[in-house]
Amino acid sequence: MKGLILAGGSGRRLRPLTHTSAKQLVPIANRPILHYVIDDLVGVGITDLGIVVGDTADEIKASVGDGSAWGATVTYITQKAPLGLAHAVLVAEPFLGEEPFAMYLGDNMFEDPLDAVVAGFDGRGATARLLLAKVEDPSAFGVAELGSGGAITALVEKPEHPPSDLALVGVYLFGPRIHEAVRAIQPSARGELEITDAVQWLIDQGGVVEHRVLDGWWIDTGKKDPLLRCNELVLDTILPLVGGTVDGRSTLDGPVRVDEGAEVVDSTLVGPLVVGPGARISASTVGPYVSVGADCRIDRSTVEKSVLMEGSRVVDVGLMTSSVLGRQAAVDGGASPGNQPVSVLLGDHSVVDVGQ
Ligand code: TTP
Repeated sequence: MKGLILAGGSGRRLRPLTHTSAKQLVPIANRPILHYVIDDLVGVGITDLGIVVGDTADEIKASVGDGSAWGATVTYITQKAPLGLAHAVLVAEPFLGEEPFAMYLGDNMFEDPLDAVVAGFDGRGATARLLLAKVEDPSAFGVAELGSGGAITALVEKPEHPPSDLALVGVYLFGPRIHEAVRAIQPSARGELEITDAVQWLIDQGGVVEHRVLDGWWIDTGKKDPLLRCNELVLDTILPLVGGTVDGRSTLDGPVRVDEGAEVVDSTLVGPLVVGPGARISASTVGPYVSVGADCRIDRSTVEKSVLMEGSRVVDVGLMTSSVLGRQAAVDGGASPGNQPVSVLLGDHSVVDVGQ
């Protein structure tokens, strides 16, 4: 089986972060989301990977390379514009050929490995197998209607009256008939070739579409709050390890990882927390649930529940919470930091002065 990772798209919902960088490379516990995606596929033996890329192709290629770090081979597939998930399959056809494949949305993360999802799928008996998750508000998702035998009988996009509480999540298995389906459908009202329409076409043609229901958590990290929630869930699994320097006036509480070359001075670190290489924290309280990227600086501030990307800075901020800072971004409380908590989503190189 091949793997098809979708890492194009426009990432409108994570702007301004995604004006300058790919949302699939936003770090969770200091590792790009896309790296967890590759881990998952390689973890179930899928090593022949195609990655669909758009405007951010160079950045994605620089981060993943030829896949040899995972023992995988990566073929990059250019999608000229983000014209939909089914369009991504269309442009990937030369890579996929007649083989069954697992399509994985490059900004999704799952708690559990995919073994049970891919086991026994060859794309010939069933034409597709979809991964579903029970959700509280099915009307916000693509929802599956199941027949008595458990096969999917219909897919409905954001239904007013959901036929079930089972939403489609970011992994799809397909056999070769999907290529016929993506050629047969028309763009939707939003101008995209929708994968739900392609699957509906398979069903309408008499194809069997199976499903598996997910057990553990699943997060579409394409928006700020789910991204921060995902950061929390992954930080909950870190192993404490101090490779950097922590001075005698600092205290560490809970699972804290301080990477080599990081420096902590006169500060309180509250885990779960990771501090990347070259980062410096002084006279601050950091955590819980903070990922401090490589070469970040936090001075005289309190930071919780946030993702600080490489080289970003937080200085003289009374309390920064639920924030995502892009690379080299800075938040400065100035000479008179206020006592209002600060919560921001900053693009790369952005600077905000939050002093009062
Ligand atoms: P989405 O989150 O559905 O779309 P998007 O990236 O355009 O984001 P937004 O809605 O915030 O503008 O995409 C899911 C994944 O699939 C994501 O990793 C991007 C990727 N993708 C493609 O590779 N090609 C496409 O044509 C689309 C629509 C998405």
